[in-house]
Amino acid sequence: MSRIFVTGGSGRLGRSVVAGLAQAGHEVVSVDRDAVPAELLPAGVVQETADLLAPGEALRLIGAAKPDAVIHLAAIAVPFSAPEDVIFGTNTRLAFAVISAATEVGVRRIVTASSPTVLGYGCPEGWLPPSFPLDERTPAKPWNAYALSKHIAEQTVQMFATAQGEKIRYAAFRPCFVISPEEWEGAPTQQGHTLAERLADPALSAPALFNYVDARDVADFLDLLLQKMDDIPNGETFFVGAADALATAPLAELMPKFLPGSEALSSGLTGTSPAFSIAKARELLGWQPKRTWRTELKPTLNDEASTLVTAGGGAKETS
Ligand SMILES: NC(=O)c1ccc[n+]([C@@H]2O[C@H](COP(=O)([O-])OP(=O)(O)OC[C@H]3O[C@@H](n4cnc5c(N)ncnc54)[C@H](O)[C@@H]3O)[C@@H](O)[C@H]2O)c1
Repeated sequence: MSRIFVTGGSGRLGRSVVAGLAQAGHEVVSVDRDAVPAELLPAGVVQETADLLAPGEALRLIGAAKPDAVIHLAAIAVPFSAPEDVIFGTNTRLAFAVISAATEVGVRRIVTASSPTVLGYGCPEGWLPPSFPLDERTPAKPWNAYALSKHIAEQTVQMFATAQGEKIRYAAFRPCFVISPEEWEGAPTQQGHTLAERLADPALSAPALFNYVDARDVADFLDLLLQKMDDIPNGETFFVGAADALATAPLAELMPKFLPGSEALSSGLTGTSPAFSIAKARELLGWQPKRTWRTELKPTLNDEASTLVTAGGGAKETS
C-alpha cells in the first residue's frame, strides 16, 4: 500500500482514479478546487480543496501529505474551453508547480496527465501521420494551446527526470477520450453527446480519431505504472486507450471519410483495430484495458447506437 496524492481528483477522470486507487488498497489524498460531495467520496479518501496555482499551495499540500507518489491530473481539460492564453498559462503552470513541488518534497514517483492531442490531429490546415497505428514515436505537432500545454507537461517531466537522474521516477500518460462509469449508463460525455450518439454518428468521434478509454482502466494503468516505475526507463510517456475503436465499422473504412488523404495509411486498421497503439503500455508494464464499449454500454443504448442516426454532428475538438 502507498500513499498517493492525486490532483484534479474531483474531475471526470480523477473521480475514477481516486476510487480505483482506494479500492486497490492505497491511501489517497485528493486535491481539487472543487470538492466531491462527502457521500460520494470513497471510504478512507482524504479530500482537500485548494487552488494549486496559489503561491506555495502545491508545496504546502504535498509537503503535509508526504506521499509516496503524486498523480497530477488538474488542468483545463477541454481545448478552446477558455481563451488560448488562459489554457496555456493554467496547464503549464499547474504541471510545473505540482511536479516541482513533488520533486522538492522528495516524492519518489511523479506522474502527469498529457493528451493524445499533442500529435496535432484536427489541425485546420490538415494533418496526416507518417503511419497508423499512432504510437509514442509519432511526432508531436500541437496546433492549439491545449495540445501545446500538454506537450510542455511531457517535456517538464523529461526535464526533471534529466535533472534528477535515477533518484526520482517520472512518467507522463496520454489518456484517450475518457468515459466515466456513469457515461455507460447514458450520462453525457465530455463533448455533451451520449455514447450511443457518438457511436451512431461517426462524425462525433472522428475528431478524436475514434479513440476512447474507460476511466477505471486508466486507474488500473496508473496503479500498475506506479508499481513498475523503478523497473522502466525514467521519463517515459504512454498512450492509454481501449483495445478497440469507438466505432461500429472498421477504421479502414471510416478514417478516409474524415481524414482526407488517409486511405492508404489507414488501410491496416481492419476489424476493431483502434488508431492508437497501446503496445508500449502492454510491453513495458503488462497493462491491458479490461473494458470496451461492446461490453460496457447498456444493452438498450447499444441497440440505440446501431439504429440511431443523428442529424449532422458537430466535429468538435476533444482532449
Ligand atoms: N477527459 C478526457 O477525455 C481527457 C483526455 C486526455 C487527457 N485528459 C487529461 O486528463 C486530466 C483530467 O481530465 P478530466 O477529464 O478529468 O478533466 P476535468 O475538467 O473533469 O477535471 C480537471 C479537474 O482539475 C481541477 N482543477 C483545475 N484547475 C485547478 C487548480 N488550479 N487547482 C486545483 N484543481 C484544479 C478542476 O476543478 C477539475 O476537477 C487533465 O489533465 C486532462 O487534460 C483528459
